[in-house]
Amino acid sequence: MLSTPEVLRRTGGKPVKSIIYDEETIAARVGQLGAEITAAYPDGDLIVLGLLKGSFIFLSDLVRTIERPVQVDFLVATSYGNAQVSSGEVRLLYDPETRLEGKHILLVEDIIDTGKTLQRLMAVLAERKPGSLAICALLDKQLAAVPRPELKFIGFKAPPAFLVGYGLDHAENYRHLPFIADLE
Ligand code: IMP
Ligand code: MG
Repeated sequence: MLSTPEVLRRTGGKPVKSIIYDEETIAARVGQLGAEITAAYPDGDLIVLGLLKGSFIFLSDLVRTIERPVQVDFLVATSYGNAQVSSGEVRLLYDPETRLEGKHILLVEDIIDTGKTLQRLMAVLAERKPGSLAICALLDKQLAAVPRPELKFIGFKAPPAFLVGYGLDHAENYRHLPFIADLE
């Protein structure tokens, strides 16, 4: 268990098991992803669509490393509430305001577990006739769910633990941690 004062102040006294990705490791990888994305889209309009709430920190760091024009919008979908196991149920609560037709859409997600959330969203977005549609996920748990969406940009291949921090929550807590930790 990791219970340094820095961790305990932020969690209200609850220890985390261990830090899986620290701030420097995340920043270095996000910078590489930004370079990959810049190179992958030489032409056309690019819209980075963040899946709320989990992607909010990753997306804000990522777009600042993309060295080409980009627009930002968000999607809100619900997956599983306070449970640590995916129910596979997905609901869209907010649609992007931006017209997607003919534009490059890059869907940004915090973590892929079963991939069910994204699988459903990709179908919804494909109906808007974007010029291209791709996924950038910070973390991929690589769980075998079929069919699995193709992930064009992946930050890290994550261990099969329950991770919190850098946008990832457990029951809405821990999103603000500057690192990614294994909760238990
Ligand atoms: P999926 O549809 O099973 O891929 O679930 C993806 C969503 O579940 C992510 O957007 C997260 O909100 C949540 N999730 C999956 N694994 C974790 C985790 O380890 N920590 C926090 N949230 C997770
Ligand atoms: Mg979540």
